Amino acid sequence: MWLRSCCVWGTGLICILLLIAGIAMVVSQVFLKLLNNRIKEQVVLENGTEAFSVWQNPPPPVYMQFYFFNLTNPEEVLNGDKPSVIEIGPYTYREYRPKEDVKFMDNGTRVQAVNPKTYVFEPNMSRGSEDDLVRTVNIPAVTVMEKYKDTFLVSRIISDLMKSLSVGVFKTFSVGDLLWGYEDPLLKEFKVFEPALDDHFGLFYKKNGTNDGDYVFFTGKKNYQDFARINEWNGQSSLNWWSSDECNMINGTDGASFHPIITKTEKLYIFSSDLCRSIYALYESDVSVQGVPGFRFVPPSEVFANLTINPDNAGFCVPAGNCLGSGLLNASVCKEGAPIIMSSPHFYQADDKFVQDVFGMNPKKEEHETVIDINPLTGLLLRGAKRVQVNVYLHQIPTFSETGKIRTLVFPVMYLNESVVIDEESAKKLQVVVNEANVIINIPFIVISVGILLGVIFIVLVCRQQVPESTVDERQPLISS
Ligand SMILES: *[C@@H]1O[C@H](CO)[C@@H](O)[C@H](O)[C@H]1NC(C)=O
Ligand SMILES: *[C@@H]1O[C@H](CO)[C@@H](O)[C@H](O)[C@H]1NC(C)=O
Ligand SMILES: *[C@@H]1O[C@H](CO)[C@@H](O)[C@H](O)[C@H]1NC(C)=O
Ligand SMILES: *[C@@H]1O[C@H](CO)[C@@H](O)[C@H](O)[C@H]1NC(C)=O
Ligand SMILES: *[C@@H]1O[C@H](CO)[C@@H](O)[C@H](O)[C@H]1NC(C)=O
Ligand SMILES: *[C@@H]1O[C@H](CO)[C@@H](O)[C@H](O)[C@H]1NC(C)=O
Ligand SMILES: *[C@@H]1O[C@H](CO)[C@@H](O)[C@H](O)[C@H]1NC(C)=O
Ligand SMILES: *[C@@H]1O[C@H](CO)[C@@H](O)[C@H](O)[C@H]1NC(C)=O
Repeated sequence: MWLRSCCVWGTGLICILLLIAGIAMVVSQVFLKLLNNRIKEQVVLENGTEAFSVWQNPPPPVYMQFYFFNLTNPEEVLNGDKPSVIEIGPYTYREYRPKEDVKFMDNGTRVQAVNPKTYVFEPNMSRGSEDDLVRTVNIPAVTVMEKYKDTFLVSRIISDLMKSLSVGVFKTFSVGDLLWGYEDPLLKEFKVFEPALDDHFGLFYKKNGTNDGDYVFFTGKKNYQDFARINEWNGQSSLNWWSSDECNMINGTDGASFHPIITKTEKLYIFSSDLCRSIYALYESDVSVQGVPGFRFVPPSEVFANLTINPDNAGFCVPAGNCLGSGLLNASVCKEGAPIIMSSPHFYQADDKFVQDVFGMNPKKEEHETVIDINPLTGLLLRGAKRVQVNVYLHQIPTFSETGKIRTLVFPVMYLNESVVIDEESAKKLQVVVNEANVIINIPFIVISVGILLGVIFIVLVCRQQVPESTVDERQPLISS
């Protein structure tokens, strides 16, 4: 009898202890902290570690896809009509971006490296070849006109030069030339005025196989949240009108961002040299990439909003006070005076006016937004797609009859989609970590569940014990003796 009673009260005691322990574990987040510590230990760049080799040579393939807008009615546009364009592409390149010349500094708290990117054409993932023709704005010509529009004599000389070379506002390029560069006849003649000028032009001229300067990254040894974060960047100044990278200095991680334990309230900063600025992304939805759970982050529309909606964007109106409207960014300063305007593809999230100004624009959220899918537990990038459009600001320039009666408009030239998806092998490894973590994180809840179960058993036992009234009397002598 005494033994049975002891068992009953013992069950009750264990139940209460388990409940207290479980709740204490939930409140103190001890297992989450344990897990964080384990992850922290792994996210440091040290010679020989897996994190280092992944950082040095990221395994998932990165693809750069270019889409161009082929102009169908150049004469009409010069007469004041709306341009009509047809999207062509993708022209897909596999992007290789190893870290080279790696040197550890300051007892391994920082690491120096260069990050050359090499682009190799992937015919199987492209629609068309690099020899395809695309008719679009002659960016060197428009840049020269923009630069010298206010100096009457020089503009006359340039205008005559353009006529003799039959150079106009629009030009037909091969895709390869427009991207990787060609010797431009106008720039070649123009070297007389500016001998230091490069007479080649291309949207990605000199970007193949070259690095954009020395980077210094934090290794995460001092603070794991700094893992692979860029610390310094010493750019070289370039005299090419396009490839100046002075707008590259950014706060952020390089490509695969890695901030362990991402929450839904996080503000992720995306670095983008193409956009000339850093933008941020906010949590949008839960996703699953190759079976691994992730949070999707996208830049909210406020990032691109006009001043009425987001006064913080005042800094992006250049020159000061000169705002272009929602969704557009004047990148002229970063492109050495070329009248380049950046936006999302098809003017997604921009004022409807810009969409309406050009026949052939069709903005779609799924296709044209920038997305980042991150595994919240490890902060590892599961999938990313950076989508940016390059446009040229066109307007009538009185000193250049070449511009005809052209409307003032933002003309779309090309957009790109630089994307990466975690490779299968890394996804499998990550899945194991995620499963393990789920078990560890759930330990307190398992403890609480066992506690509750014991509680139920305890109540049942107590009730059963109290049913026969007579037994109470029998017990009394036992206790008093
Ligand atoms: C890493 O270690 C290997 C072998 O010990 C060595 O050859 C290599 O130079 C080291 N790398 C760096 C960046 O220190
Ligand atoms: C590197 O570590 C050594 C020994 O721990 C220390 O004496 C030295 O000051 C450290 N140097 C730097 C640059 O942190
Ligand atoms: C870039 O350089 C690599 C190696 O130098 C070469 O194989 C590749 O074809 C080049 N890509 C382009 C687009 O020129
Ligand atoms: C783009 O337009 C030009 C001029 O009409 C044409 O010659 C060319 O074939 C077009 N490009 C493609 C890829 O359709
Ligand atoms: C970069 O970060 C530093 C400190 O974290 C801050 O002072 C600086 O303003 C940031 N720069 C940009 C461009 O966001
Ligand atoms: C800003 O955008 C909103 C909505 O698109 C519009 O109603 C407003 O007029 C715009 N403000 C300016 C100054 O363009
Ligand atoms: C873009 O910025 C440049 C340089 O700040 C300026 O000269 C130009 O007028 C701006 N373009 C537009 C369309 O506002
Ligand atoms: C890149 O984005 C474009 C649309 O912007 C889409 O058609 C294409 O499939 C995307 N590429 C990849 C590899 O996701």
